[in-house]
Amino acid sequence: MKIGNVEIKGYAALAPMAGVTDRAMREICVRYGAAFCVGELTSAKAVVLGDDKSKALLKSVGGKIWAPQLFGSDPDIIAAAAQKALEYGPSFIDINMGCPAPKVAGNGAGSALMRDIPRACKIIRAVSNAVDVPVTVKFRTGWDKDHITAVELAVAAEASGAAAVTVHGRTREQMYAPPVDIKTIAAVKKAVKIPVIANGDIISGAAAKEMYENTGCDFVSVGRAARGNPFIFGEINAYLSGKAYTAPTLKERLNVCKEQIEKMCEYKDPYIAVLEARKHLSWYITGLSGAAELRRQACSVKTNADIDAIIQKALELNPDM
Ligand SMILES: Cc1cc2nc3c(=O)[nH]c(=O)nc-3n(C[C@H](O)[C@H](O)[C@H](O)COP(=O)(O)O)c2cc1C
Repeated sequence: MKIGNVEIKGYAALAPMAGVTDRAMREICVRYGAAFCVGELTSAKAVVLGDDKSKALLKSVGGKIWAPQLFGSDPDIIAAAAQKALEYGPSFIDINMGCPAPKVAGNGAGSALMRDIPRACKIIRAVSNAVDVPVTVKFRTGWDKDHITAVELAVAAEASGAAAVTVHGRTREQMYAPPVDIKTIAAVKKAVKIPVIANGDIISGAAAKEMYENTGCDFVSVGRAARGNPFIFGEINAYLSGKAYTAPTLKERLNVCKEQIEKMCEYKDPYIAVLEARKHLSWYITGLSGAAELRRQACSVKTNADIDAIIQKALELNPDM
């Protein structure tokens, strides 16, 4: 697949998840086979105002293919933020038109743009004119089941200069509830020439293959299933290329968990990083023997030594994994 002039190899990308897919997780996922990744939702207005926290979200993943993701409702402000984002050398720029959060959609941004296609087009056009990298757009199937606008928005996005679209196969109203609307993703694919990246409930190699086959999509992206499991990308790559896949042992998985948390401590304030690491540690140990108690303990870790102790205990309780 090519996003504009950016050649993408592989089978699956890491989807953006605010508060989850930080730089450490993106680096780890790319290392374990994600073809590219999209950063956390970032307010265009905050970037333009020079907010340090928002600027930190725009930092790249050492030389890999990646895009920051911007949200906003004002075409000029998103265009200005996109120009600032170029300082960090992104491969392309993604615009969010699917976020259901009231503080985003309530201000005319995110999923609200699925109901205001003329404004969505002005934003895409303004950003495309402002930057010399490809511009992509991520949205859902529509606002609710009575307003499925993904095809109309995708066609309009293509005409306004988008180089690819990602469709999360749910409405804003659905949030994350099943089912994923495969038919609408397939209809989007039929309606545009630019690549279509399909997203929603891809939790395995088999699920990725089904998404490709049932929608005709050009690529897929994985969100929640990558939490605590960057290895899913290796599994998908092996499954789709017909190669054998050997899952990592628990020790290998938990070593990667430790490394991810070390990277978090390197890239952020180490105290905040450990607090944020609680959820990542919980995801890595999900499903293990003794997981309920280990997860309870993970919720109160305060130091790297606390994290190491939980990892050690997880290994002792699961000697055969
Ligand atoms: C905690 C969380 C945060 C998310 N943040 C973003 C975001 O910042 N930008 C975005 O476009 N989508 C965001 N999403 C949606 C995901 O990118 C993805 O579309 C959704 O989770 C469906 O894919 P999945 O079933 O593979 O998880 C978020 C999802 C979750 C669960």
